[in-house]
Parts: sequence; structure tokens; C-alpha cells
Amino acid sequence: MTTFTVNGRTHQPEGPSEMPLLWYLRDLAGLTGTKYGCGLGICGSCTVLVDGQAARACLLHVGELEGRAITTIEGLSADGMHPVQLAWRALNVAQCGYCQTGQIMQAAALLAATPKPTDAEIDAAMSGNLCRCGTYPRIRAAIKLAAEGGEA
Ligand code: FES
Ligand code: FES
Repeated sequence: MTTFTVNGRTHQPEGPSEMPLLWYLRDLAGLTGTKYGCGLGICGSCTVLVDGQAARACLLHVGELEGRAITTIEGLSADGMHPVQLAWRALNVAQCGYCQTGQIMQAAALLAATPKPTDAEIDAAMSGNLCRCGTYPRIRAAIKLAAEGGEA
């Protein structure tokens, strides 16, 4: 049986090893903050961190995650005070909100690897996260704000 952690807690999924991580998180682990958009790896709404790297939960099978550390939006911070979350709130980034957990996880991974990203680095990192509401300008501004360590 595959063993991995989600937000610091050990999980041993039952069922088929080819079950997408996204299914496991939402339907079996009750972590519904990670959203199902396309199921094909092209929208980014299901983005989580795997060993600190942004990854699409719809493309990962639970059976290939032995020993990995997964972080979902529920585990990004204990109190919703991650710098990215603070910046998102300060700039009211979300519109409908559906894509935003994926956006936040992708942004958190970017800033962990590149604390002061350029516009080009932001665009490159975020290009696979789609937003039907067109919140892209606020997303970019919030990433810059988070990089500066400010709230507004
Ligand atoms: S649901 Fe995974 S990338 Fe769209
Ligand atoms: S805020 Fe609605 S899809 Fe992004």
C-alpha cells in the first residue's frame, strides 16, 4: 500500500493505485479546496505541492507517490497567513474563486523557488493556471506584493 503525507499527516489510500490524487484528496480525504477543472493537466485548478514543487493533482496517480510530501491549500499555512494568502486578500484577487486555490499554490511554489520573480518569471510560472474571470492582472500584482512581504 502506498504511503505518503498530506499536509503533514500520513495517508495510505485504499483502492486502485491508478486513482488520480485529485480524486483521493477530494472524495476520500475530504480536502475539497483542491478543485477539479479539466482533469487533463491544462487548467491548473488542481495544483498542489509535491515535495514543494507545483504539480497537477489530476495527473498524478496515488500509486506513484510513495514517500512524497503533498501540500494542499488547506495545509499551506495553519491560519491562512501565508504571504501569498495575505497578498491575495489585500488585493481582492478572487472573482468567482474557482481557480484561485490552484493559483495560490502555483504562486507559493514560485516564490519558494524564486523569492523576487521578474514579470517574465511570473508569467512563465503562472501561464498554465487559467482563470475564466480574467483576474490575471491582480494575480500578478499580488505575487509582487507577496514578494515584497507586504499586505497592501
Ligand atoms: S483539473 Fe488538473 S489541470 Fe485542470
Ligand atoms: S476567479 Fe473565476 S475562474 Fe479565476
